Amino acid sequence: PFVVTENCIKCKYTDCVEVCPVDCFHEGPNFLVIDPDECIDCTLCEPECPISAIYPEDDVPAGQEQFVAINAELSKDWPVINARKDAPPDAKEWEGKPDKLPLLER
Ligand code: SF4
Ligand code: F3S
Repeated sequence: PFVVTENCIKCKYTDCVEVCPVDCFHEGPNFLVIDPDECIDCTLCEPECPISAIYPEDDVPAGQEQFVAINAELSKDWPVINARKDAPPDAKEWEGKPDKLPLLER
């Protein structure tokens, strides 16, 4: 499956959700995750993210391996999102910032 990684935290642009044919994105307060049990590896979402936060499970950036488990865990708790919505007003300021994991709201 594909995995949403750290750069999505506090950016949450949601362009990714509209293309998913199986509605496997789930939304939390400031991050999205993909349900690994529903993702069919269609690859459509990966290029939609304007800040390249989505990767195949076996190709997540070094140091972000824990996001595989985070997607699996939180997708069971959070509701499905399949329509785009406005990003947080300060999303731009958080693009590419390192060490955002402590800011993830559950
Ligand atoms: Fe959805 Fe396809 Fe992305 Fe998986 S790879 S999350 S099925 S759009
Ligand atoms: Fe996040 Fe990128 Fe989707 S910022 S919400 S993975 S478009």
